[in-house]
Amino acid sequence: MKDLKKAVLFVVAAVAAVVYLSAVSPLGAQPPANGEPKDTVTLDKYKDKKTPVTFNHKRHSTDYKCEQCHHKAAPDGNKNPTCGTCHKAEKVDKTPSLKDAFHDQCQGCHKEKAKADPTMKDKAPTTCAKCHK
Ligand code: HEC
Ligand code: HEC
Ligand code: HEC
Ligand code: HEC
Repeated sequence: MKDLKKAVLFVVAAVAAVVYLSAVSPLGAQPPANGEPKDTVTLDKYKDKKTPVTFNHKRHSTDYKCEQCHHKAAPDGNKNPTCGTCHKAEKVDKTPSLKDAFHDQCQGCHKEKAKADPTMKDKAPTTCAKCHK
């Protein structure tokens, strides 16, 4: 009985691993309809101009809804495309530049939080060097 339970658990774990790997592996079907949230994200597209920005994606994505940041799905159905899929180096019509997209979304919320709760000032960075480390 105990062995049977173990065997069942093993099969369940193996299936879960395969499903998980096919979702995150570059060899798996892509792009994902809605990817696995990453723990840490480093934004470094502009690393030649400014030091990269690393943030705790997991924490942000448990505190806020995915759509708060991933506010538009790609035409292929991917709900979490990179921001640069749509936001380019320069503003196009109503679509802000990638730099503005990040600064407005990230700093915008941080400033709002600090205004509502001064203890957030130290936690949600609004000064250059606290994001660009
Ligand atoms: C809340 C976080 C945050 C704060 C605060 C912040 N930035 Fe950024 N900034 C970003 C992110 C994210 C990017 C995109 C980085 C990348 O992809 O390399 C970026 C990109 C940039 C870039 C490169 C884009 C370009 O077009 O040159 C510059 C320059 C920059 N920031 C300057 C600043 C300066 C100056 C300040 C302070 C006045 C500042 N940032 C404050 C998050 C922040
Ligand atoms: C605070 C804003 C924020 C929240 C909330 C958030 N994300 Fe993200 N996420 C980002 C940013 C910024 C990136 C990096 C995008 C880029 O590279 O241009 C990212 C990257 C991703 C990626 C990798 C995309 C790629 O192709 O490299 C996935 C998948 C993802 N997020 C899924 C999620 C899911 C699922 C949730 C909700 C459970 C979520 N995110 C919540 C901001 C957020
Ligand atoms: C599928 C295309 C697409 C993706 C992906 C996308 N955006 Fe946008 N974004 C737009 C368009 C188009 C606008 C212009 C206003 C509108 O139509 O909502 C916009 C507007 C914005 C604005 C201006 C305020 C607003 O909401 O109108 C910010 C800030 C922004 N995006 C940040 C981001 C960030 C950060 C990411 C990645 C986490 C991202 N966007 C991903 C298409 C996209
Ligand atoms: C909807 C609100 C919101 C948005 C959007 C948001 N943040 Fe935050 N962020 C917070 C709050 C609140 C904290 C403080 C969390 C705490 O410690 O209580 C925080 C903390 C941080 C920190 C310090 C802790 C850590 O995660 O490493 C960094 C860096 C950061 N944010 C970067 C970013 C970047 C870059 C973006 C845009 C891609 C972003 N944030 C978008 C609300 C937001």
